[in-house]
Amino acid sequence: MGTGQLLRAFLCARRTRPASVDVVYRRPVTVDDEPPTFSARLDALEAAVRARTDLVPSVGLVLGSGLGDIAAAITDATAIPFADLPSWPAASAPGHAGKLLLGRLDGVPVACLQGRLHLYEGNSERLVVEPVLLMGRLGARVIVLTNAAGGIRPEWPAGTLMAIADHLNLTGRSPLMGRNDDALGPRFPDLTNAWSPRLRQRLHQAADQEGVHLEDGVYAGLIGPTYETPAEVRMLRTLGADAVGMSTVLEAIVARWAGLEVCGVSLVTNPGAGITGEPLTHEEVLAAANEAGPRLAQVLRRFVANLAVPFGDARPGPHALDEMVAAGLLVPPRSKAPPAKPHPIPAPNGQTIEKILRDMRDE
Ligand code: HPA
Repeated sequence: MGTGQLLRAFLCARRTRPASVDVVYRRPVTVDDEPPTFSARLDALEAAVRARTDLVPSVGLVLGSGLGDIAAAITDATAIPFADLPSWPAASAPGHAGKLLLGRLDGVPVACLQGRLHLYEGNSERLVVEPVLLMGRLGARVIVLTNAAGGIRPEWPAGTLMAIADHLNLTGRSPLMGRNDDALGPRFPDLTNAWSPRLRQRLHQAADQEGVHLEDGVYAGLIGPTYETPAEVRMLRTLGADAVGMSTVLEAIVARWAGLEVCGVSLVTNPGAGITGEPLTHEEVLAAANEAGPRLAQVLRRFVANLAVPFGDARPGPHALDEMVAAGLLVPPRSKAPPAKPHPIPAPNGQTIEKILRDMRDE
């Protein structure tokens, strides 16, 4: 191929390349070189969703790695692949279906992200949080974030469920860098009660009703995609983390900024690096998520069903939690079942984590 042909092929390839997310969210050089505002992006995203369904969700759910099961329980669902929404890439992480679902979960109108966008996939911090903001724009007032996570506490076996009480944002990123979109939230948002205490209490109530054991803890969000080193896991323990993963924290930040109420559950799929000495694999993570996922789905379904009695067609539209309380739509707690024991999942070498710890103590 001559130089002229090469140059023509190069220019042609450049011209036919689809507009990528990088173009939408090019890193600005100065504040005058800003990407589009969240509001402008949400206008486009909302219009694309509204072309397919007019369902107004009350609750938005984000389902992490291997936790897509609950999606099967959503009725009258409209499923929109991420790639059908303006400038969203298809989800590339294994175990992530990459769909936005709108439908009803036990009668309650919900939006549900089956899979999410991660920083480690090369997505910008702004793009990663758009799905949560979109669910808010569509009507959701409560956001439930779930993830698969490594356990930092050595006594937690794989399969432990942890209600997120607080987080450490260790990604080194914030979705709120750059000019603030004052239409959506304040410049300096407060994160004191980022993880809603009253929603966490309701998660425990739902877990008790289902006889599922639920711990509380602090989630540390790192950028990934490597799992941590054993030294990092020890550092995270010193910092006060109980579980570690590669998602969730930016979504929680932006949701609070936009005035949405947030709760979440981590499914501990493996003891953190170095705790058992066994190497970590994504297959192990997905297998544990698949094994324990149904228990998490049970809790979330009960939580959603308790949050609001079925709205029916008489009360369509978004309902802030306070309005739900005022309208008597919140179901009071039922009888309190004794908390169930965690379900131990064998460690990769066939032992349970409890046994490994016992043996370590006896040595
Ligand atoms: N570290 C980070 N992310 C994870 C892990 C882990 O050990 N397990 C599942 N997601």
